[in-house]
Amino acid sequence: MLELKNITFSVTEDGEKKEIIRGIDLVIPDERLVVITGPNGGGKSTLARLIAGIEKPTSGQIFLNGEDITEKSITERAKMGIGFAFQQPVRFKGIQVLDLIRLATGKHLSVGDACEYLSAVGLCAKDYIDREVNASLSGGELKRIEIATVLAKASVLSVFDEPEAGIDLWSFQNLIQVFEGMRREIKGSSILVISHQERILNIADEIIVLKDGELVAHGTRDEVMPQLAGDTESMAGCCRISELSGLAELKGLADRKGEDFKC
Ligand SMILES: Nc1ncnc2c1ncn2[C@@H]1O[C@H](COP(=O)(O)OP(=O)(O)OP(=O)(O)O)[C@@H](O)[C@H]1O
Ligand SMILES: [Mg+2]
Repeated sequence: MLELKNITFSVTEDGEKKEIIRGIDLVIPDERLVVITGPNGGGKSTLARLIAGIEKPTSGQIFLNGEDITEKSITERAKMGIGFAFQQPVRFKGIQVLDLIRLATGKHLSVGDACEYLSAVGLCAKDYIDREVNASLSGGELKRIEIATVLAKASVLSVFDEPEAGIDLWSFQNLIQVFEGMRREIKGSSILVISHQERILNIADEIIVLKDGELVAHGTRDEVMPQLAGDTESMAGCCRISELSGLAELKGLADRKGEDFKC
């Protein structure tokens, strides 16, 4: 269980204090898939970075399974079981995909086992396992490799920041199945996904809406989804193929109507 107690995060820009996260109290219980959504610039990635330890809160405390981790480093939190997939993943020159997956698990995985994680995110494992994690990988490939490493890590808390970003429609389908699979095998752990996608919101146990650094809604999917449907600002950037029928037909996507589509 992850607990945030009165977390604030401010930066000083041109001599002025800017409050990005404003007093957030939040519990992510075990065995739940929680999705955070909300308008661009609302503070979602900042909150994820505070949880992972990339940023330190200006005030407030963070607890993992009752232990205060506020002052713990990224590495210490990773060792305690917090896995994190960035909105914009980092490239590691000189490291092969296989090494990265082995590093994530902390075990000398067989090539076959490592390949299973790549297949789970829709990558043809034999084509990628020996590739270097450098600039030659496309954004979507890199994103999927990073998601595979978080899967391999089998964390106590896995955080995914906009896993759909840069991922094509066909791989997105795969991704939903990956999250559904993780949800089924969630025993003793929890999953936090930041997303604008209705298809991901639809598989959430709980939904949180973050706007201007504050929680404006938090409840079960059934409680929050109807509120979101009437809140065009929170759903900005997210739409369905049915609303894009002209474009969908143009791109030969007509048979995929009803699926989510990033505008
Ligand atoms: N270190 C920083 N210095 C100055 N401003 C920052 C810093 N980090 C974040 N911000 C600002 O804080 C706000 C929240 O940013 P954040 O990336 O958390 O938003 P987000 O909800 O993830 O948005 P998106 O949906 O676009 O990914 C933005 O206005 C951003 O420019
Ligand atoms: Mg973000």
